[in-house]
Amino acid sequence: MDILRRVQEYRQTQDALKWEGTFAEYLELLKEKPYLAQSAHSRIYQMIQEEGIEEENGVRKYNFFSEQLFGLEEALEKLVEEYFHPSAKRLDVKKRILLLMGPVSGGKSTLVTLLKRGLEQYTLTDRGAVYAIKDCPMHESPLHLIPEHLRADFEKEYGIKIEGSLSPLNRLRLEEEYGGKIEDVKVERIFFSEDNRVGIGTFSPSDPKSQDIADLTGSIDFSTIATYGSESDPRAYRFDGELNKANRGLMEFQEMLKCDEKFLWHLLSLTQEGNFKAGRFALISADEMIVAHTNESEYRSFISNKKNEALHSRMIVMPIPYNLKLDQEERIYRKMIEESDIEDFHIAPHTLKVAAMFTILTRLKESKQSNISMLKKLYLYNDQDVEGFSDQDVNALKKEYADEGMTGIDPRYVINRISSTIIRKEMQAINALDVLRSLKDGLDDHPSITKEQKEDYLDFISIARKEYDELAKKEVQKAFVYSYEESAKTLMDNYLDNVEAFCNKAKLQDPLTGEEMHPDEKLMRSIEEQIGISENAKKAFREEILIRISAYARKGKKFDYQSHERLREAIQKKLFADLKDIVKITTSTKTPDEQQLKKMNEVVATLVEEYGYNTQSANDLLRYVGSLLNR
Ligand SMILES: Nc1ncnc2c1ncn2[C@@H]1O[C@H](COP(=O)(O)OP(=O)(O)OP(=O)(O)O)[C@@H](O)[C@H]1O
Ligand SMILES: [Mg+2]
Repeated sequence: MDILRRVQEYRQTQDALKWEGTFAEYLELLKEKPYLAQSAHSRIYQMIQEEGIEEENGVRKYNFFSEQLFGLEEALEKLVEEYFHPSAKRLDVKKRILLLMGPVSGGKSTLVTLLKRGLEQYTLTDRGAVYAIKDCPMHESPLHLIPEHLRADFEKEYGIKIEGSLSPLNRLRLEEEYGGKIEDVKVERIFFSEDNRVGIGTFSPSDPKSQDIADLTGSIDFSTIATYGSESDPRAYRFDGELNKANRGLMEFQEMLKCDEKFLWHLLSLTQEGNFKAGRFALISADEMIVAHTNESEYRSFISNKKNEALHSRMIVMPIPYNLKLDQEERIYRKMIEESDIEDFHIAPHTLKVAAMFTILTRLKESKQSNISMLKKLYLYNDQDVEGFSDQDVNALKKEYADEGMTGIDPRYVINRISSTIIRKEMQAINALDVLRSLKDGLDDHPSITKEQKEDYLDFISIARKEYDELAKKEVQKAFVYSYEESAKTLMDNYLDNVEAFCNKAKLQDPLTGEEMHPDEKLMRSIEEQIGISENAKKAFREEILIRISAYARKGKKFDYQSHERLREAIQKKLFADLKDIVKITTSTKTPDEQQLKKMNEVVATLVEEYGYNTQSANDLLRYVGSLLNR
């Protein structure tokens, strides 16, 4: 029932926003709020600005895009600053078609959809409100009613520039319905909606034979020709093409360069002169942003054709490359999974990261500097610290290639492989290994991978696999250490007893037999060696620790294994090294004894409770790490 109430509420808000009045009343409104008369381009720019901008490390992040598009900050900043912003200022770029050019499933459609949904919401707000001549199929701007010779004065008084002339249909209506009195013409507030075909249009190419230019510019209404007597009476014409409907807002041209040429010619005059030709009428003014998208190979063949020069010079091409940041790629997958029906499936920790690692590697170009491996580059691009490299190095690295990110594996491929693994395996959990295997198997069927590329890609899979092995080992060791917190303490107490005896040239007592013993040199060295303390330095190190202990004692503080950074590290490493055997034995034994079974269960519990595994993926991990350690 809640949903019905919300639908009702939504209708009520819309009803409350409705406005209808005469042109005279509209002019009163404009005095107060001149922004109501802004151009389509300006409205879109305002909409993006109003959501706010955050700046991180000198890179701008537009909130308008950042919930849906990840890792494209630089491309989006260029798009806003080189197209949206200047076109809002009525500069010449406004007359150009915006052509988003990028590799498959790199987010082009997502970007346009954001703009469309954004506009639908924005026209419900005060700053984004749009007014139009009432009942006009093209939602024509009421300001077109002002005759040419009065426009200069209007501009002076209102500070608003008028572009475009009154359409043939409204010219006729003005005479017939209002007796030429522009002040009486009815004006209404409109709300953009793609579904209702208001302010938002979409055109996608279909079969060139059946596709009709009417889809763009409307068509003659044969049922009414008899009534009006002539084909050139605008009332006998349906202004219902996508270009008509998108007036005042945004028109999306999907896969534009796949379109038949005759469709593209229409765009020529629309973009340059701001008007287009429909039927037998004078040119019709339109105020809309045209956004098209295409991929690189289509774009290349388009510009290589001399015939397209005129059109090409009327486009602004904005590259939308793939994301190149590891963490952001992981976010993309997470988002896509949430939107799909595999959402409830258990995906073991690190799975998506490891898949993303492979994907990003396929998109990066090898650095010209020999000391930067692909993996280092990947981490640097992900804003991670890599020893020996600074932020400046990263910036220089990014400048090496202007077109990085235009090739490589697309996110949809990864999601498809994940889904097919899930379906094929019929199991409740998948991990990084399953996905890497599936990514590898799928390469043969991938339509656009060459043989050479495939070899590189296989290398990238094994790089990602090695990184995963390290992650997996560390994770299991950590889980073991957690259940071995006690043993860290025991090991440390034991070490300190020996150090104390060593420094005091004393002997120790065996706790069981009471026998006197020399300090256990082997034990002490095995710990110290973990942090590279040499035979010569051991005495100084041991004395330093004793001094630290007595300093703690004087202050009444308890010295434990966290109190000395290097000692802590040594103990941990020693434990990991010892664990290697425990982990190895515990995880690889086919018939675990009671003790081992208990340990395994503890570790599984830790993995589930603290690291996000489920029982199955935790057991899979243990088995895998066991096999790694046995190699
Ligand atoms: N940088 C990104 N941030 C967030 N999501 C992304 C990004 N790149 C791709 N995606 C996701 O990948 C999927 C495909 O993206 P989209 O359809 O927008 O791509 P496209 O460029 O239009 O592709 P095509 O050329 O195949 O039409 C979508 O689910 C989209 O959300
Ligand atoms: Mg698309």
